[in-house]
Amino acid sequence: MNKSRTLLTNIRTISTPVGNKPIAGAAMAQIATIPEAYILISGERIMAIGPMEELIRSPEIYRNTTLVHCENCCVLPAFVDSHTHAVFGPGRESEFVDRIRGYSYAEIAQRGGGILQSAAKLQQIDEKALCDYALPRVIELMSNGSTVIEIKSGYGLTIDAEMKILRVARSIAEQLPITIKTTLLGAHAIPVEYQQNRQGYLQLVCEQMIPRAVDEGLADYVDVFCEAGFFTPQETEQVLAAGLKYGLKGRVHANQMSHSGGILAGIAQGALSVDHLEYVSEADIAALLASNTLPTLLPAAAFFLSLPYPPARQLIDAGLPVVLATDFNPGSSPTTSMPFVMALACIVLRMLPEEALTAATINGAASLELAQDYGSVEVGKYADFIITKPGTHLHTIPYYFNTSAIGQVYRHGARVY
Ligand code: NIG
Ligand code: FE
Repeated sequence: MNKSRTLLTNIRTISTPVGNKPIAGAAMAQIATIPEAYILISGERIMAIGPMEELIRSPEIYRNTTLVHCENCCVLPAFVDSHTHAVFGPGRESEFVDRIRGYSYAEIAQRGGGILQSAAKLQQIDEKALCDYALPRVIELMSNGSTVIEIKSGYGLTIDAEMKILRVARSIAEQLPITIKTTLLGAHAIPVEYQQNRQGYLQLVCEQMIPRAVDEGLADYVDVFCEAGFFTPQETEQVLAAGLKYGLKGRVHANQMSHSGGILAGIAQGALSVDHLEYVSEADIAALLASNTLPTLLPAAAFFLSLPYPPARQLIDAGLPVVLATDFNPGSSPTTSMPFVMALACIVLRMLPEEALTAATINGAASLELAQDYGSVEVGKYADFIITKPGTHLHTIPYYFNTSAIGQVYRHGARVY
């Protein structure tokens, strides 16, 4: 088969982390910057990268290529958004005014809002309608520069509804040019009918939902919301252990609203990632350093809920490989924008733009076990990258936090935005 070849010329700078492993600590800021460069794509992958002089010396590289002129534009790896809840039904704008008036996330959940409200609505919607809700949202994620995303279930809370979400997530990957990993989050909240019988619901998740999702090939990972009012650390470990029994590695919603114990529970069960981390102790940091579990920060959720922010500086300065993701969902983080997350990371968490890029690309890819193929602009990897608008560059993205610097998005060698 003759693979199509695309040649990007006169790129002002390529800014990219390097390698196929998570990058930790001070190294997060050490990205490669290649000035006045070209990229040659063959089929879906990057075949060559080099300085423009090389093209002048070897003009045969131009042969049989489609040219993309990138004068005054920069190239960055496309974002890997390793934590989203992109498949949900109607939004939850109805809770907005209550929150403005001062009800907390927990109080709204106790009043029957929150996750349970999303679940009640989603259970009434058929698969086609749910897909119609989700598709434009995923297109928005793509237009914000993400070409790899994770999607969690968790707004179903019955076997059928959880499988429906996961099937929709799988089907989106067939309908749109995007790479998707799926996570079963049956343990997102205790449904009303199980509120006097928590163990009954946990059994349903561990003994029925997990094996069913595995049998039908619908889930890549399992997740638990470890928080006061949701699941305890012990229950979290119970679900993660059940996941491992069926071959699913874990992820945890940990320490978002309190020192919930979720970080240590995740590490004890070898979770790939513990996410949120607004509340972190010295012991949590020591345990993370001694593990392969990645700390994932979701500052847009802290922003939207007016919670304290996660201590990114402390984590990076301790030598950890921080990941950034949107947590896109209707209740706590209604944004599809990795650039906005990078802006919060820089402006509020005091991460350098280079650290934020590493966290939003290669480290996210590592958290989804995809760093061999995604997360950096390097020969051999998939040609998934962003071409910035003319005159903009890496620092422009978090700086002009409400103006998109994303000009074009390529995925597997083809333009998708
Ligand atoms: O990641 N923390 C739990 N889950 C979501 C919020 C879910 C919701 O409120 O709908 C989160 O923030
Ligand atoms: Fe989440």
